Amino acid sequence: MPRKKRLLFALLLSTALFVSLCFGWVNELVAQQPYAGKKLVMVTSADYPPYEFRDTAKGKGEIIGFDVDIAKYIAKELGFELEIRDTDFSGIIPALQSRRADFAMAGMTPTPERRKNVDFSDIYYEAKNTIIAQKGSNLTKSTDLAGKKVGVQLGSLQEKAAKKFKGVNLVPLNRIGEIIQEVKSGRIQAAIIEDTIAKGFVANNPDLEFHTLANTEEAGSAIAFPKGSNLVGDFNRVLKQLQDSGEMKNLINKWFGNNEQPATNAATSGSGNISASIPFIIEGVGTTLLFSALSVFFGFIWGTILSLLKISTFKPLVWLANAYTSIFRGTPLLLQIALVYYATPQLTGFDIPALLAGVITFTLNSGAYISETIRGGILAVDKGQREAALSLGIAYQPMMLDIILPQAIKNILPALVNESITLLKDSALVSTIGVADLLRRAQIVGAEKYIYFEPLLFAGLIYYLLVMSLTWGGYVLERRLQRST
Ligand code: ARG
Repeated sequence: MPRKKRLLFALLLSTALFVSLCFGWVNELVAQQPYAGKKLVMVTSADYPPYEFRDTAKGKGEIIGFDVDIAKYIAKELGFELEIRDTDFSGIIPALQSRRADFAMAGMTPTPERRKNVDFSDIYYEAKNTIIAQKGSNLTKSTDLAGKKVGVQLGSLQEKAAKKFKGVNLVPLNRIGEIIQEVKSGRIQAAIIEDTIAKGFVANNPDLEFHTLANTEEAGSAIAFPKGSNLVGDFNRVLKQLQDSGEMKNLINKWFGNNEQPATNAATSGSGNISASIPFIIEGVGTTLLFSALSVFFGFIWGTILSLLKISTFKPLVWLANAYTSIFRGTPLLLQIALVYYATPQLTGFDIPALLAGVITFTLNSGAYISETIRGGILAVDKGQREAALSLGIAYQPMMLDIILPQAIKNILPALVNESITLLKDSALVSTIGVADLLRRAQIVGAEKYIYFEPLLFAGLIYYLLVMSLTWGGYVLERRLQRST
């Protein structure tokens, strides 16, 4: 290589190196300052009274509890505004890793595994694990559980602790309410649950009992942060201040009561009656409908585009559209939702809101199905229509839009109504990423009241009414279109 060229090459290389170093450095800086401005986002799993749960009787279903009081205190002390977001417990660490939240409080215990992925504050509350079981089962020690089916919350410390019990048949479930329900129905014989939580459930379910496990692992709670967060020191300082001033004791008494005596907060005195929470559940209808309407609308547009690609004469377009359809029809919708919601911030840095993530996934997914329906509809339109249009010299686009598609759509209307119904019901899947839709709200009420069936039955009834109205609407539309021929 001539000298000049070599020099230029070296120069280019070092510039590239420098730029990428700078980039890395800036990235690092940004990473250390996840909170821009004065708002702190806390993520939690509001299924854990009295640590965190929803107060659904007072309209808005605000998240309250021991953790929330502490978080509010700390935020105030440090001069931040506080925003609280809800997710499944197993979604908390991903939320911190993707910097969707600045910290998490969810009665979470620091473990070596978790420490690899997030940072923790000091422990602010010690608790113990218990075995909860049907009354009279007399399961008091971990060795009693051998050969039994034992429920635990997925991703929780109790799951880890129970893995060490010999001969136990572990059943990991998402929500505490589900675990309790399984114990009650006898499908599993016991569950490992923290003492504070167990107390509340036993107080509200006379058919259950619990026994505190003697020497299990620590079950203390600490605040979790994204790795490298510079909030940890400040939080620890305020936590200490809370302890020293005796304020922490007050909070403990407020939420946990003293010793075996449960506190008299909304959680432990839940009457098992959901009537006060019905407006809270019904409010979810708006979210469910909005979500479904947006998804049907965009899914239809996207499906139409895909179907046009599929009948195009340019082969690569056809392959592309077919490959797309096969991917979206070939993988579970639930998985697609989780991927879009959790991967987007990591890949693009954009903190996609749960509802938007849901609409995008549903659009992409239902577009794949709808495209097939529309394609079938187009193919079913009499060939003569096309030939006539062409011989009259009508261009492709107006022919498609004004002649072929309208006829196709009329024919496939029942199939489209069908797709909308499916979508309306499947919209319940967005509850898994924390959208407060109908199902999610029903689950929230269940968690707050320590019951399970009633809110779900109620939500089921509403879903049914919604689907019935949709069916009826589709029928009317069909009749009207029929008459217009
Ligand atoms: N302390 C347990 C853990 O860290 C359970 C916490 C569950 N918290 C909740 N909000 N569901 O694994």
